[in-house]
Amino acid sequence: MINREIGNLEYRRKLVKAGVVIVFMGILFCLARAIHNKYMPMITLKVENQSVMQGEELPAIQASVLCKGNPATILDRQSNYTVEKFLDDLKAEKGYRIQHEINPEVDGVYAVSVIVDKKLKEKLQGDWHRKVKFQVQDGTFEVQNQYGEWEKDKFKKWDGTYVISDFVKSKGSIYYFDKEGKMVTGEQMIRKRKYVFRKNGTMEYAEKKVDPQKPMIALTFDDGPGKYTDTLLATLDSYDARATFFMLGANAAKYPETIERMEAIGCELGNHSMNHANLVKLILPEYAEIDAAQAAISQAVGHGADVLRPPYGSVDGKVLGEAGIPSIMWSLDTKDWKRKDAVKISEYVLNYVSDGDIVLMHDIHGFSVDAANILIPTLLERGYQLVTVSELAEARGIELEKGEKYFHFYAN
Ligand code: NI
Repeated sequence: MINREIGNLEYRRKLVKAGVVIVFMGILFCLARAIHNKYMPMITLKVENQSVMQGEELPAIQASVLCKGNPATILDRQSNYTVEKFLDDLKAEKGYRIQHEINPEVDGVYAVSVIVDKKLKEKLQGDWHRKVKFQVQDGTFEVQNQYGEWEKDKFKKWDGTYVISDFVKSKGSIYYFDKEGKMVTGEQMIRKRKYVFRKNGTMEYAEKKVDPQKPMIALTFDDGPGKYTDTLLATLDSYDARATFFMLGANAAKYPETIERMEAIGCELGNHSMNHANLVKLILPEYAEIDAAQAAISQAVGHGADVLRPPYGSVDGKVLGEAGIPSIMWSLDTKDWKRKDAVKISEYVLNYVSDGDIVLMHDIHGFSVDAANILIPTLLERGYQLVTVSELAEARGIELEKGEKYFHFYAN
């Protein structure tokens, strides 16, 4: 009886010992697991949020590869594929792709996501599940409007002023802001053209004044406005013709009502620098001369010009780049300042002009305006449409771009 009890006791001790060992091993195993999990390499594929100004070139859209933990960790023993090699592959954009629908021409915030390949996904969920942690972080990409940003029913330009009496292209649509800077809706007469805007302000209809099938010419007048400009505008208006005026800021400041009238009858406003500076030779920043003229024009109509004619046609890559608006040269130089005779000037134009030409004249001379008064009805009689530079470009399917220069818009 006693012996049996002693035997039982022995047995129990052994059992307890074994139990302790098992528990201990278990704790050790869990600890090892925890340590393993803690130090298991962690890889993150992260799309960095980026932004670009509308119309600018898209930068490379990539995901950055981040890793915590030991890069020497082996993922596949047979091929000796380590975390380090996996990282190299990810950096070489293998195993996934970046998905987005960014249109650099249309402002807005776009989603950018990382799409992991099926093959890699299977490995991560299978063999590699206990060897590496993997996560992706999607991002966004903002295309900023090139002019500014919305502020309720107004549009604030990047320089802090509001868009006044002008059109703005935003989120793929065109809007118009009135004299008070408020977005317009419904039917509107703007610059002698009929427009219809939807309730949300997007343009629904714009009356077409140009027939792209018929020949057309852009008459351009430099160095004004001057004392003869109003006479010229009256002629243009009476024939429902339009021209482009490349104005000196110094003169623009003296004739705000003339500039208002130009715009009201559908003519195009152009910048010809503040003081007729040779922009290439200028020591001061070129844009100061351009900006001062923009400010002078803006004083009259609430906004600057959309096109530049560099004085003397003097332009280089630097000026083109800094101008911020496209540069418009010419294809037919009337040399009106030299001919000094209305009949000679108009005869010269009538002899040489052809469809798509940009004609250079100066509205500061009486003889040039007299020549224009002869030319306008005669060219119309000959079947030409007299249009602005922008209308001519548009009719020929060309979108004017800043940083570029244009001499003519001949039909192909
Ligand atoms: Ni000039």
